[in-house]
Amino acid sequence: MLQRFNNIVILTGAGVSAESGVATFRGPDGLWEGHRVEDVATPEAFVRDPDLVQKFYDERRAKLKTVEPNAAHQALARLDQTWAGELLLVTQNVDDLHDRAGSQRLLHMHGELNRAWCLACDARSPFDGDMASGPPCPACGQTGSLRPDIVWFGEMPYQMERIEQALRSCDLFVSIGTSGAVYPAAGFVQTARYHGARTLEMNLDPSEGSFHFHESRMGRAGELVPDWVEQVLSHGLC
Ligand code: APR
Repeated sequence: MLQRFNNIVILTGAGVSAESGVATFRGPDGLWEGHRVEDVATPEAFVRDPDLVQKFYDERRAKLKTVEPNAAHQALARLDQTWAGELLLVTQNVDDLHDRAGSQRLLHMHGELNRAWCLACDARSPFDGDMASGPPCPACGQTGSLRPDIVWFGEMPYQMERIEQALRSCDLFVSIGTSGAVYPAAGFVQTARYHGARTLEMNLDPSEGSFHFHESRMGRAGELVPDWVEQVLSHGLC
């Protein structure tokens, strides 16, 4: 049944960037670019082997310069620019493809590859380069004190209060390209649905929480998302 709505929250994950050539986290071999996620994405891993972790993210940051937003990022940016109602795009992705496509009402809940967090002065700054060589903090000038401004396992995602509030007030929640394996993002569908939102998933395969959604559309984000955005902008229905 099609419904009208005014307030949309969209959650994206690695699947939305897959067609741009950015590797997802949980591929068929269970590895992320040859590493267990836990070996490069925890504070413990950073203490144990900072060089490995810094080089890993330096490579990911350098790779960003070689990829471009795809049709799904572009369609979501068009929706943001055209949709007069409330909208919030929450991404788990640390790439900048939604930003580059032009999304404005955007929140990076797991941080950003292109930002640095200084453990000496606590400043978060735009950063575009290699961290493994121990460059100075753009804010305080201390060397060797930067880490990627990325939320690792065991750390608190950013802006959870704002996200929770948006989930409680939205009337449409849409999840795109995420496996539903990592909380708290995996639980957003339940919060939104509990508070009365219609819930739609678009993913290559059913996510772990697929059964929570009113509707699941299976396929590539680069095809499904532009069709869905067209449907919303033409009819205001989902
Ligand atoms: N179109 C749509 N979905 C796709 C596509 C595509 N072209 N390609 C892959 N997918 C789907 C996969 O089927 C999978 O369900 O995208 C999902 C990606 O899942 P993950 O690799 O687990 O990525 P994500 O859900 O974003 O991971 C969540 O885990 O490691 C942490 O912090 C990291 O933000 C990340 C979080």
